[in-house]
Amino acid sequence: MFSLRNCFSVFIAALTTCAAVVNATPSSLGRPATPAEIKAWDIDVRPDFKGLPAGSGSVKLGQEVWEAKCESCHGVFGESNEVFTPIAGGTTKADMTSGRVSGMVLGAKNAAAQRTTLMKLSELSTLWDYINRAMPWNNPKTLTTEEVYAVTAYVLHLGDIVPADFVLSDKNIREVQKTLPNRNGKTRQHGLWNVGDKPDVQGDKCVANCVKATTIGSSLPDYARNAHGNLADQHRLIGAVRGLNTAGAVASNVTANTPKSTSSTPDPLKLAQQHACTACHGVANKLLGPSLTEIHKKYAGTVDVVSVLAAKIKAGGSGVWGAIPMPAQAHVPDADIQAIAAWLAAGKF
Ligand code: HEC
Ligand code: HEC
Repeated sequence: MFSLRNCFSVFIAALTTCAAVVNATPSSLGRPATPAEIKAWDIDVRPDFKGLPAGSGSVKLGQEVWEAKCESCHGVFGESNEVFTPIAGGTTKADMTSGRVSGMVLGAKNAAAQRTTLMKLSELSTLWDYINRAMPWNNPKTLTTEEVYAVTAYVLHLGDIVPADFVLSDKNIREVQKTLPNRNGKTRQHGLWNVGDKPDVQGDKCVANCVKATTIGSSLPDYARNAHGNLADQHRLIGAVRGLNTAGAVASNVTANTPKSTSSTPDPLKLAQQHACTACHGVANKLLGPSLTEIHKKYAGTVDVVSVLAAKIKAGGSGVWGAIPMPAQAHVPDADIQAIAAWLAAGKF
């Protein structure tokens, strides 16, 4: 029997076959996809650049696009030091020659604390395609072809891969691919090369001798660890890679980078700052997330409001206030979540 689900999976692999299946179905269900509809879906760009639309874009225009549409989340230099994935950094001229990012090779002396997009990237088509289909995150598929070329060129420029006066185009993109720092660093056994393979969606497949995971450590002697204040308050507050917690007593456990509750009668505002809630929530103003005052108002009068809010904080979620999701906060100690939830419920900010 014809099923929509089958059709959908076929749809992705072979749009035209699917259209034919629909066509052959004697029911009144659906209609063949039009060539224009197929064209709108069929936007993937392969490693050999099949599917790449003709066009070009300059680093200069890319900088304008970046500043207007990307910088708010990814930082001026792609460093994304607050919330989002860092884009540039961690690659060298020597990597461009070898095609292997040395900081990711097992036993590397210069092992990077975190992996940026440019460190992981082995196919330039992936960067072009990803930006084209998924960015800006809050408004995907709104960039023109020229803007995608331009902002891709700008990202490459942030990584010192192309010069400031460069214009990236379908004509020269293959040449740039040959200089990508990590072009030899990844397996080709993935769905982008062979349709039967599983796509490497985590970007963690590696040819050989790769560092598997990175843990934040500190090479400072114990007495100096807190010399510049608590690094956890100064580095990335959110995401997989956070600043090391160097506050309080000299710790021997250098990988403990999850902020710990510090007092038994905590000041909830301090807790909200310590756990980076305030990076996305202002007390009175909307940032990435709704203001704490709005949240208080929305849930005032809700039965069992403290546990409802605590559960929401712990699990994160999306769609209640808009399209931007709130990441789960399961790393925050339960006692702190309870204290913040009670504070939100009381609304005395
Ligand atoms: C509203 C915030 C936001 C804006 C604006 C934004 N991004 Fe992103 N970007 C994200 C998030 C979040 C991710 C991670 C998405 C994921 O992992 O599912 C991301 C991921 C990326 C990545 C892949 C990172 C990796 O290594 O996996 C690239 C490249 C990127 N963005 C480029 C851009 C460009 C170029 C623009 C501007 C045209 C842009 N972004 C605008 C939030 C944003
Ligand atoms: C990366 C940004 C970010 C961080 C960090 C963050 N939030 Fe949120 N939060 C959001 C967004 C975005 C929403 C709206 C989600 C939605 O629309 O469902 C939200 C929603 C909420 C809500 C309302 C949930 C609902 O369903 O109505 C509460 C409560 C909340 N956040 C508390 C917190 C607390 C407490 C922390 C810190 C422990 C925190 N948030 C950290 C972005 C963030």
